[in-house]
Amino acid sequence: MTTHHTARRRAAAAALCAAAALTPCAGAHAAPPPSETSAGTRPGEHAQPWRDATRSPAWRADALLRAMTMDEKVTLILATNDEDFDPLAHLGIPQMRRVDASGGLRGDTGVTAFPAPNALGATFDTALAERYGQAVGAEARAKGWNVVLGPTLDVDRNGLSGRAAEGYGEDTLVNGEMGAAVARGLESNDVIAMLKHFTVYNQESGPRETLAVDVSERALREVHYPAFEKAIREGGADSVMCAYPKVNGEFVCQNEELLADLKQDLGLEGYVATDFNPRTDPVAGINAGVDSQSLFPGTPREAFFDGRIPQERTEDAARRVLVALFDSGAYDNPLPTAIPDVVTTDEHQRLARETGAAASVLLKNSGALPLSKRDSVAVIGPAGSDAITGIEGSSYVDPGDFTTLAEAVREKAGAELTTVSQGSLGDVALPTVPASAFTAPGGEQGLQAEFFANPDFQGAPVATTTTPNVDFSGAAPVGGLPAQWSARFSGTITPTATGLARFSSLLSGSAKVTVGGETVFDGSRFIWDFFFAPQEYTLGGTVPLTAGEPVPITVEYSTREAGFFGPRLTLGWQPESLIPAAVEAAKEAETAVVVVNELTGEAVDRLGLRLPGDQDALIEAVAAVNPRTIVVLNTPGPVLMPWLDDVEGVVQSWYQGEAVGTATADVLYGDAEPGGRLPVTFPAAEGQGPTHDTGASVEYDEGIHVGYKWYDQQDEEPLFAFGHGLSYTTFEHRDLRAGSLDTRKGEHETASVRVRVRNTGQRAGSDVVQVYVGHLPTDAVDTPEKTLAGFAKVALRPGEKRDVRVELDRRALSYWDEDADRWVTPTGEVPVYVGRSAADVDLVGSMTVK
Ligand code: BGC
Repeated sequence: MTTHHTARRRAAAAALCAAAALTPCAGAHAAPPPSETSAGTRPGEHAQPWRDATRSPAWRADALLRAMTMDEKVTLILATNDEDFDPLAHLGIPQMRRVDASGGLRGDTGVTAFPAPNALGATFDTALAERYGQAVGAEARAKGWNVVLGPTLDVDRNGLSGRAAEGYGEDTLVNGEMGAAVARGLESNDVIAMLKHFTVYNQESGPRETLAVDVSERALREVHYPAFEKAIREGGADSVMCAYPKVNGEFVCQNEELLADLKQDLGLEGYVATDFNPRTDPVAGINAGVDSQSLFPGTPREAFFDGRIPQERTEDAARRVLVALFDSGAYDNPLPTAIPDVVTTDEHQRLARETGAAASVLLKNSGALPLSKRDSVAVIGPAGSDAITGIEGSSYVDPGDFTTLAEAVREKAGAELTTVSQGSLGDVALPTVPASAFTAPGGEQGLQAEFFANPDFQGAPVATTTTPNVDFSGAAPVGGLPAQWSARFSGTITPTATGLARFSSLLSGSAKVTVGGETVFDGSRFIWDFFFAPQEYTLGGTVPLTAGEPVPITVEYSTREAGFFGPRLTLGWQPESLIPAAVEAAKEAETAVVVVNELTGEAVDRLGLRLPGDQDALIEAVAAVNPRTIVVLNTPGPVLMPWLDDVEGVVQSWYQGEAVGTATADVLYGDAEPGGRLPVTFPAAEGQGPTHDTGASVEYDEGIHVGYKWYDQQDEEPLFAFGHGLSYTTFEHRDLRAGSLDTRKGEHETASVRVRVRNTGQRAGSDVVQVYVGHLPTDAVDTPEKTLAGFAKVALRPGEKRDVRVELDRRALSYWDEDADRWVTPTGEVPVYVGRSAADVDLVGSMTVK
C-alpha cells in the first residue's frame, strides 16, 4: 500500500502542479529563470524610462504601461507558466514564479520548515514575525521564486476548520500585526507577498470551492477585512488572493463589491489573483476586479479583444501587476540563474527553534516544569520522526531530517535517564484489517457485503457477496451499481490481542462502524489526502476486545458526501494496544512526557475536538501510574482534555516544523521559556464557541463576536482563554495610564496606554502585555465586552521592570456604521483593561475619546 500510495501521491501532485502552473514541485527547476542579461540589459535599455528605480512604482508602472501593446498587457494578465513571460522579457518584465510559503517553501527541499503560522501567532512577537518573513522570503528568492503565496490572514472563527493553523488565530488585530510583519519580512527580499484568502474562507467543508457564506457588512469590516488592510498598508503586501467561497450570493473572485472594497478601502494598489481552480467564470472575474489569472489558466484571450472585457479594465489589471513588480523590487532584482540544493542556513534553523519555543504555550503547570536534567524521563507517544511537523496541503513544508523530541530529550537528560515508548501511533492510518480476522455469517473468511442501489441502504440489496476485507478505492467493489450506492459489510471479527483495539479508516463518503455493539466511528469525509504531506486524514476510534473472542462487526458505507475522488473505504486496525508497555515505562520513570497529535490541513475539517484514536486513553493510563505526567500537544489548536486534572503540565506545541523536537525539549527543560500565549480560545466542550457549523452554506451569525468576544457575550467559560499562557517566571502589572483620543485630529490618530511591568520571579522571561478596550460609549450598536486593541511582548530579567507603551489605533475605538457606510468613533469614556488573557484582567482603567 505504501508504494502504491507514494506513486499515487507523486502522480497526483505532478498533475496538480502541472494544472496549476505552480512550480513548487519536485523537479520544477528544469528550466531556470532567465538571467539578468536575458531579462533586460538589451541595447537601448536606457530608452526604457521605467527602469529608473529612483522613480515611484506608480510612475514606473504608468511609463511601462504606455510602452506596452494591448497584446503584451493581456499576456501579463494571463501569464501562468514561466514561458508565458517570454514575450515580455524585452520590457525587463521578469517571470513571476510563485511558491506556496506559509511556514516555509512548499515543494522544495533543502529549505527550513518553520513552525506553522498559528504557532507564530502564539508568539505575539511582531519583530520575530518579521524575521520569520525575511527568512522565508530569502529562501524563496534563493530557490528562484519571486511571488510568495502567503501569509494567510483567515480569521479562525471555527476551531474545526482544517486550515486553522495556517492563519494567526481568532483575533483580527493579531492577524493584522503578524500578517503585516511577515509580509514586510517577505518583501524585504524583493519578492511579492500574496495575502490570502480574501475573504471569509474559514472552513473546508462545503466543499470550499462552492461554500456559500452569509456575513454582515459590519463583520466583514470589523473582523474579516482589517488584517488585510494592515498587511497592505503597514506590511506593504503587493497582491491578494481572492478566496473560493461565495459571499452573500456571489463568489469573492467574481464579486465586484468586495474586490472594490479591497482596492478602494483597504488600500491595495497591487493586484488580485484567484486561488487554484476556482469555480468562477474567469471573464466575469476579471470584470469584477481580478487582475491576474496567475494560478489557474482558462481565461479566454479573445475576451480582451471582443469587448467582453472593457479596455479600461485590461489597463487597470496590467497596471496593478506592474505596480506590484516595481513596488516589491521583483522587477529590479532578477532571480538567480543557478538554484542551490540547500538554501536553509544555520541562522534560519536557529530561528525556527527560537520561534518554536516562543510559540509554545504552557497551558498548565503544577510545578513539575521545567524538568530537571537529573530526573529519569519516559518519552511516550509519537515523539519520533512520526511527529506532525506541518499542515497537510499546499502549505506543507518538507522538514528533511530533523531532531525528534525523543532524541532532543535524550540529549538533555542523557541516554541512561531516558526511555522511549511508543504508547500510541498517533493520528495515522492503520494497516488494513486482514481477511483472517473476519468471519462471514456463512462461516467463510471475510465479511458478507450487501450492496444497495441507493445511498441509504434502502430496499433489498442488489448484490451480495463475501469480501476478504473492507478496502476499495476509486470504484465500487462490485460492478453494476449506480453513482450513488451504499453497502453493509457484516460478520464477526476475532481479536488477536486483549485490550484496547484501535480502528481507522481512509474514507471518501460516509461510514459507520460498530464492533461488539459499540459505535467505533460514524462520520463523513470527502477526501483522505491532499497529496503534499506524508500523512493521511483518518477517521477512527477504539473499542476494548478480548483475544480469541469473536464479536459482531458491521461496516456501513455510503457514497453520500464522497467527493470527486470517488468512493473509498479502507478499514485498518491495530489489534494490540501499545499502551500497556508505555504504562510500564512510565512507572519506572520520575517523569512521563506524553506526546499526542492530530493531523489537519487542506480539504478536510475536523469532526470534533477529541484527540484521535487511543491518545486520550494513553494519557489517562500513564497519568494513573506516574504523578508527574506532562502532556505535549502536537496539535493544530484546541482539543478536549478529559485528563487535565490528572496531569502535572500541558504544553501546547502546535506544528513546529523541523523544530518540533528541539524547541519542545528546550521548553520542557527550561533552556528556553514557553513564550507563547493562545491566539485562539480552547473550548471546554464539544460545540462550545461561536460556531461549529461546517455545512455547505453558513451564516456568520456570531457577527462581530468571533472567538473570545463570543465567550464574553454569552458569559461562557472556555477551557483556556484567548491570550492564556503561563511562564516559568511571574510578572506584575501596575500603574495603568490610558491617554485620550482626539477624534478631531483625524483617522490616523492613536491613543497610548502605559503600564509598568515587572518580572517578579527568579528567571528571565517575556510577558505579553495585552490591552483590551471595553464596550464603546454608544447605544447605536452592540459592541464587544472586550476587544484586543494592542499588545507588546517584553523580555525581562528577574527583578527588572519596564514602562511599556502600547499604541491603540483609532479603529480599535470605532465601529462600522452599516447605514452610513463608514467608521464611527463614539466619544465618551471607554474602559481599558490590561490582562493576562481575555478572561483574566488585572488592571482596569478608562480612556477618554473626545
Ligand atoms: C490553496 C491556496 C494555495 C493554492 C496553490 C489552493 O488549494 O487554497 O492557499 O496557495 O492552492 O497551491
